[in-house]
Amino acid sequence: MSAGADVVVVGAGIIGLSAAWRLAQRGASVTVVDPAPGSGASTVAAGMLAPVTEARIGEEPLLRLNHASLTRWPAFAAELEEASGRRIGFRTDGTLMVGLDADDRAALDDLASRHRAMGLEVEPLRGREARRLEPGLAPGVRAGLLAADERSVDPAAVVAALEVAAAGAGVALVRAPVARLVLSPAGDRATGVALGPPAPYGEGTGPGAPAAGDGRELAAGTVLLAAGARSGFVPGLPDHVRPPVRPVRGEVVTLRQPTDDPLVTRTLRGIVHGSTIYLVPRDDGRVVVGATQEERGWDTRPTAGGTYELLRDALSLVPGLDDAELVGVRAGLRPGSPDHLPIIGWTALDGLAVATGHFRNGILLTPVTAEAVAALLSGEPGPDEVRPCDPRRFAGGPVATGTVGS
Ligand code: GLY
Repeated sequence: MSAGADVVVVGAGIIGLSAAWRLAQRGASVTVVDPAPGSGASTVAAGMLAPVTEARIGEEPLLRLNHASLTRWPAFAAELEEASGRRIGFRTDGTLMVGLDADDRAALDDLASRHRAMGLEVEPLRGREARRLEPGLAPGVRAGLLAADERSVDPAAVVAALEVAAAGAGVALVRAPVARLVLSPAGDRATGVALGPPAPYGEGTGPGAPAAGDGRELAAGTVLLAAGARSGFVPGLPDHVRPPVRPVRGEVVTLRQPTDDPLVTRTLRGIVHGSTIYLVPRDDGRVVVGATQEERGWDTRPTAGGTYELLRDALSLVPGLDDAELVGVRAGLRPGSPDHLPIIGWTALDGLAVATGHFRNGILLTPVTAEAVAALLSGEPGPDEVRPCDPRRFAGGPVATGTVGS
């Protein structure tokens, strides 16, 4: 084994990198291990910072946590841009929700009354008022709801900035797969990770090829699992501390609109003949259209059907996008948890902590998660809103089939 770091983080997505950055800022020696940093859900996500329009009745602890993180985002964004010297596309335009036909309008009215019941601030708008805010909307749009405090960010830019900021704070990044969690001889403590074997000669090279490990073991005082949907599938992880996460697929289409005369100027969420859709604009003209939500294992191939549905509904809502450049289609795996709350903190196994299960809110929850991990791993309580996310609320045990990397 190597001499060891204070913390080894498994997973270089937005959660793993931000936690590593915050831990290093407190003086911890941190190594992050990932065969392909930023290749998971983090960089597929549209980047809505949307506690209001993602709120569901009965999920009040999640709502409080989401709000706690939204309030941290402006300072987090400014600090990250300063530390990395990179822009991360933080936008403060708010979210406009709209309904297209009469049934969609009724669904929007129902949503507005649920928002009021939860004490959330949304401003009801007539169709005409919604179109005045967003002239690209279809003439048929019947009604709108404005959530003016919501924000958005470019998650791929955040991940790239976090890599720079974390490296600047002394975090080491090892581009290799984790072969297994290493336990103490008595099996009562996590003591590090073993890296995957070297690739056979001639393999594991070329653009996009995952990096291979060299079979080394990295010792650590603490192992933090932050590998998104794969966090429960690290070989060697005892069942009683396995985080019960599952992959929930989301497909997104990226378009490009003219920057001098954009059709979409703020996050739009639509109910379109009963289906839901969102369009999130970026400063460089891209518009991310999302997202499907399906449970179909580890498959991240984009599908014709998913792409068709997203484009059909996007063009019904903003017909002028008909002419937009089609930039690409991607699918990612949200880490779903049984109660839709993330799983953050110490497990029942000494030396093992987790930060996963962020489901539809991983980008939004990044600042509060990173702060909580850094506090909890330093023996401090962490923000109050994170308490319901304790991993020990689950009994443990098998959750699904699969292995990391499969
Ligand atoms: N946060 C939006 C989504 O997961 O699709």
